[in-house]
Amino acid sequence: MKCVDDFRLKFGSRELVPIIIGGMGVDISTAELALEAARLGGIGHISDAMVPTVSDRRFNTHFVKEKLKLYKYNVANIDKSPVRFDLGQLADATRMHVGSTMEAKRGDGMVFINCMEKLTMNAPRETLRVRLSAALDAGIDGITLSAGLHLGSFALIEDHPRFRDAKLGIIVSSLRALQLFLRKTARLNRLPDFIIVEGPLAGGHLGFAADDWQEYDLQTIVSEILLYLRAEQLDIPLIAAGGVFTGSDAVSFLESGAAAVQVATRFTVAHECGLPADVQQEYFKASEGDIEVNTISPTGYPMRMLKNSPAIGAGIRPNCEAYGYLLDGNGHCAYVDAYNREITLHPTARKVTVYDKTCLCTHMRNFDCWTCGHYTYRLKDTTRILSDGSYEILSAEHIFNDYQFSKDHKIALPTSLENVVG
Ligand SMILES: Cc1cc2nc3c(=O)[nH]c(=O)nc-3n(C[C@H](O)[C@H](O)[C@H](O)COP(=O)(O)O)c2cc1C
Repeated sequence: MKCVDDFRLKFGSRELVPIIIGGMGVDISTAELALEAARLGGIGHISDAMVPTVSDRRFNTHFVKEKLKLYKYNVANIDKSPVRFDLGQLADATRMHVGSTMEAKRGDGMVFINCMEKLTMNAPRETLRVRLSAALDAGIDGITLSAGLHLGSFALIEDHPRFRDAKLGIIVSSLRALQLFLRKTARLNRLPDFIIVEGPLAGGHLGFAADDWQEYDLQTIVSEILLYLRAEQLDIPLIAAGGVFTGSDAVSFLESGAAAVQVATRFTVAHECGLPADVQQEYFKASEGDIEVNTISPTGYPMRMLKNSPAIGAGIRPNCEAYGYLLDGNGHCAYVDAYNREITLHPTARKVTVYDKTCLCTHMRNFDCWTCGHYTYRLKDTTRILSDGSYEILSAEHIFNDYQFSKDHKIALPTSLENVVG
């Protein structure tokens, strides 16, 4: 019986452990987590979601405060179209986040950045160009395009000096999405360096409908895309993602032709993960019935999350003047519309509740939207219960090693300090 360590992900002349920790915004996949993956010979992701906010936390900058100061006059206004990002500041924040991460990188692995197209930031093309270019400027090893079809994203950076040397790839959930991407980017004569195929069991936003994700399965989509790549003689590494919970799950994809797996859920309970410790305990405690796929994300994509996420049903005032990452090119966000509808319906209420949409910026920023993978309910089987009744948080290294070396669907429990001592 094989383990993941029997395989390698080949990128040109480089060979990596075929384990990629997926991007988890907003700063759930921290630099520390990504750096561990790289140190251990795999690939880690940071995320550029709400990067000015992340930079304020990491480096004590004041990007959010400055933006809010500039647009404070607009807070009570329904029309959010005047609220714009300062592109220079966006570039600075990205360069700081990426630059300091890359400086700290050790080991043979790589660090990529996850860039979601759905963060339209009231100027989709301009802001995405800045985000991608600044990440390349600051030395990121690779970029993973996600949450969108990205039909124009390669073209935004075709003149960047690193356009052909950085590893650039995309997340797709169907062959159709991949074909569209390849067709639209054909004129650039630059294929993606990797394709992540994400199935319906993943965390975060899903590339399936909220009511039919059960009809799809990752293995089938992977096989379909592998066949297509072979038929077209496209030698691009395919990476399987979504519901790969054990090393043996990973092996079955590697044996069927995937070059690597991308995993995330198991790392949500790592020390290095950005989720606060009390939220990590919620992830451990969850049972299957506590997880749902809903449509409250203003992006229009379904999202999987814990049903007890504080973000669900909260009716907070939109914070677009400080954040505003989901404003489309015309200053619209589905949450702003939903909130204003409730305010109009309940003009005298001191507080409204909004169930159909959530203010994703604020709630993700505050770790109140507990997005998670389908198998979150199995996390409790990956650790021990401590004497105070809580679950033991794991090291990223422990989880990574378990993926890399475990066989027979076994999951190694941590060698708990508490258990060793007494
Ligand atoms: C908490 C959490 C947040 C996530 N956030 C993002 C994100 O911001 N962008 C993205 O492309 N994928 C996101 N994902 C998806 C992961 O990167 C990954 O592809 C997927 O969850 C892998 O499946 P697994 O969680 O079953 O291992 C997120 C996943 C989780 C669990």
